Amino acid sequence: MIGRREREGPLMRNNAQSLRKSRVLTAVAIGILIGCILAFLFPNGFIVSHSRHLPVKGSKTQEISAECESSDRVNMLKSEFVAVSDNNAELKKQVRELTERLRLAEQGKDQAQKQFLALGKQVKAGPFGTVKGFRTNPTVVPDESVNPRLAKILEKIAINREIIVALANSNVKEMLEVWFTNIKRVGIPNYIVVALDDEISKYCELNQVPFYKRDPDEGIDTIGKSGGNHAVSGLKFLILREFLQLGYSVLLSDVDIVYLQNPFNHLYRDSDVESMSDGHDNMTTYGFNDVFDEPAMGWSRYAHTMRIWVYNSGFFYIRPTIPSIELLDRVATRLSKENAWDQAVFNEELFYPSHPGYEGLHAARRTMDIYLFMNSKVLFKTVRYDANLSKLKPVIIHVNYHPDKLPRMKAIVEYYVNGKQEALKPFPNGSSW
Ligand SMILES: *[C@@H]1O[C@H](CO)[C@@H](O)[C@H](O)[C@H]1NC(C)=O
Ligand SMILES: *[C@@H]1O[C@H](CO)[C@@H](O)[C@H](O)[C@H]1NC(C)=O
Ligand SMILES: *[C@@H]1O[C@H](CO)[C@@H](O)[C@H](O)[C@H]1NC(C)=O
Repeated sequence: MIGRREREGPLMRNNAQSLRKSRVLTAVAIGILIGCILAFLFPNGFIVSHSRHLPVKGSKTQEISAECESSDRVNMLKSEFVAVSDNNAELKKQVRELTERLRLAEQGKDQAQKQFLALGKQVKAGPFGTVKGFRTNPTVVPDESVNPRLAKILEKIAINREIIVALANSNVKEMLEVWFTNIKRVGIPNYIVVALDDEISKYCELNQVPFYKRDPDEGIDTIGKSGGNHAVSGLKFLILREFLQLGYSVLLSDVDIVYLQNPFNHLYRDSDVESMSDGHDNMTTYGFNDVFDEPAMGWSRYAHTMRIWVYNSGFFYIRPTIPSIELLDRVATRLSKENAWDQAVFNEELFYPSHPGYEGLHAARRTMDIYLFMNSKVLFKTVRYDANLSKLKPVIIHVNYHPDKLPRMKAIVEYYVNGKQEALKPFPNGSSW
């Protein structure tokens, strides 16, 4: 297969010309940069102000740094600069510092500023092979005022500020029973059902299942009720937001899931979002090079693409960080405006990079082990036929690929819990529509 293509040829020819051009451009750019820096450094005129506060949230600094205010001002400051340029050793130092701050402000705006301030000090890159970027973002400061009633409930149930959360209404009552029965059997105490109607709260109470019935007057409910289907699917993300704001990490769980081990013993906790995958083997789950072939292009017929099967928005662990909350907000906002599938939106927001007209999310992601956090396609198409894989004990199995959810959930319990080797046999690999 043909690899990279060289495109340097034509560029080389114009090298001399463009070098000359670029020198001129560089000179102009340096002039403008100095002007910007001075505008930033002395927003009230050149001589008057010597106060140099670090930029803080809400100050004008970022706006100024982002787009050098007006060219008039720059011109004025440039001439002032010339006037005092003899005495410029101290100035050079200040310029250096501010250039650095501008760069940081440009890079991450608020976020980078905060990180810079929190770390206090910049570091040099270490030797080859020793450097590692941040992947674990700091958690937010818990804010109980967001929902004091929920805060009280979570204080009692959560362990290490972690909790499994499922949303349920009376349509999924039977699956919910299998769901909590297996959670109890495994001995997981930190879980809660967000009851979406009275029948479910009564049912939870009756079965001693921790639940939280939302007060219909609470703000977010009106969002859920105001719109059609897509607005309601956005509700899940708004509810999750409250848990995160209260400072809890949430393992969001659909109810068509059978728990066979405690998932909290199998998490990495190094990313903003750690999710199970819809993939069916290592390749589709963890990513692969998918080559697009266009014979008409001749020599360059092969275009390489990267593919990954989507994350399953019905089972993911989300840490209470700013990028996580931003993700929830982005998804909820889009679902309130578009008639879109929440899982597609969830993945797009997680994975699409920044590009013209769009600023991508800066969230760290981790894909869960496909044989521990297993979807029903992996189980019914592969694992049950494989002598080695069928011996492994998954942590959870999500019956997401099959419409006959309840009988398959029950069969999974028979197979893995009660050791009935035949229990999965009656079910076809897929569904017959
Ligand atoms: C899939 O990935 C796991 C973990 O990286 C590895 O242990 C296993 O051998 C892989 N299986 C196949 C079929 O490549
Ligand atoms: C189900 O999947 C297995 C393994 O992938 C395959 O051998 C079998 O033929 C499939 N069954 C049907 C009915 O397609
Ligand atoms: C199961 O594992 C053994 C030992 O690693 C290997 O020799 C065998 O080929 C595997 N069987 C299958 C069906 O993958």
